[in-house]
Amino acid sequence: MRVRVLGSAAGGGFPQWNCNCPNCDGVRKGTINAKRRTQSSIAVTGDNVNWLLFNASPDILTQFQGFPELQPARSIRDTAVKSVLLMDAQIDHTTGLFMLREGKTPLNIYCTDMVYEDLTTGNPIFNILGHYCGINWKRISMDSLDSFEAEGVPNLKITAVPLSSKAPPYSPHRNNPHIGDNIGIQVEDATSGKKLFYAPGLAEIEDQIKPFMEQADCLMVDGTCWTNDEMAKLGIAQKMSLDMGHLPQSDPGGMIEVLRPLKASKKILIHINNTNPILREDSPERAVLASEKIDVAYDGMDLTI
Ligand code: MLT
Ligand code: MN
Ligand code: ZN
Repeated sequence: MRVRVLGSAAGGGFPQWNCNCPNCDGVRKGTINAKRRTQSSIAVTGDNVNWLLFNASPDILTQFQGFPELQPARSIRDTAVKSVLLMDAQIDHTTGLFMLREGKTPLNIYCTDMVYEDLTTGNPIFNILGHYCGINWKRISMDSLDSFEAEGVPNLKITAVPLSSKAPPYSPHRNNPHIGDNIGIQVEDATSGKKLFYAPGLAEIEDQIKPFMEQADCLMVDGTCWTNDEMAKLGIAQKMSLDMGHLPQSDPGGMIEVLRPLKASKKILIHINNTNPILREDSPERAVLASEKIDVAYDGMDLTI
């Protein structure tokens, strides 16, 4: 299977339009060693032709233009993206759906009941798309861990697992978590048996996701903040990383400790917030990750698993 990182930043992207934190200001002025990044999304294929898109970022048009394989140009209107899977209902993972409204057929969209509810009430993207291409909702059940194949995307076995993160700030149940607000996804190559585990929002390593993380050959997980109080320390916002549903990396019990014993040959952080010091390639924090054999995703990163 191939995995293409379309966007590696958290909500807001890097640099964020209104932010002058040392990272955003530095990357804008070219005074730090860091890459710009668009908002969180990946695409995965099991046959090198048909792609499953994970999340639809507000930056989706730029991301598609930056990856010509998604436009094979076989007919007057065409795309290699056969289905879209939403990990949650957050703005940075869903508003790009509006940019796909010219589709000739309804968009195949995989998501849970909770995400469907948020996207038909609090932020009714699905209702609005009904006036354009429409959607073909494919319900991801939280009743079992049965795997499925996404429509039009052969050779990949998808398994969704509920996890603890957060419903979006606009959701009527932001502070009242429900199963299916956020999921992690295992993608298994049906031919090779190799496994990717993807979880861009992950606050807590609960028992149900441990086996998936242990079995993965490639882990692509929440890399939002380095410390829980990162935004508060910069005077940006009082909210803590964990309050937003993101396990910080360096704190005790943080993502570095979680990843350390796991066998995956590729351990990658994704959904990086613009305040995170790991965005600076020459930072001490980045050196810590290198010593732990943890990579930081970047836009255009292309992996064969
Ligand atoms: C998050 O992952 O916490 C959200 O994307 C934040 C946001 O939408 O700004
Ligand atoms: Mn996000
Ligand atoms: Zn910033």
